[in-house]
Amino acid sequence: MFYNGLLVLHSLLRWVILILLLVAIVKSYSGMTAVKPFSEGDKKVGLFLMISAHTTLLVGLYLWFFGPWGVASIGNLGFGEVMKDRVLRYYAVEHTTGMLIAIVLITIGRGVAKKRIPDAAKYKRTFWFFLIALVIILATVPWPFRAGIGRPWL
Ligand code: HEM
Repeated sequence: MFYNGLLVLHSLLRWVILILLLVAIVKSYSGMTAVKPFSEGDKKVGLFLMISAHTTLLVGLYLWFFGPWGVASIGNLGFGEVMKDRVLRYYAVEHTTGMLIAIVLITIGRGVAKKRIPDAAKYKRTFWFFLIALVIILATVPWPFRAGIGRPWL
């Protein structure tokens, strides 16, 4: 019950992260091209994005430690056996590593807002950090159409 609730939260937060990433990328791009000052709104989107990403990470860690594809279930298997199984390998390596890299990029991207650099440079850096994070997230979410590892849309 508790586990399922966290799984639903983890799954829903993906949409919050994707929407906030899109908003942040569009804002950074328009800031870059229109030479606008880095606004409070830009800072807030970055902050909410980071909070959502870190919450997803914490919930993901719980799922990874106690879920059917994580440590509790595969702890007694050898590395070779995990690597041979499509689903086990996906959650042990691809999903976890990809998402950790994306969350680090989001965290660095949000940190740019606090740096003492020109606003144009802030927009440019946040644009690239968030764009790469978006690509990695899109590539490592277990979308329903992915053979073997597909999970529901919500
Ligand atoms: C931006 C970060 C992340 C996103 C967008 C994301 C997204 C997702 C989605 C959409 C699912 C499928 C949920 C479902 O079946 O309804 C999932 C499952 C899972 N995620 Fe993540 N995830 C992220 C980060 C992480 C991290 C960092 C970890 C581990 C440390 C993790 C561990 C897991 C595990 C173990 C499952 C499978 C749970 C189960 O089926 O019981 N996730 N994730």
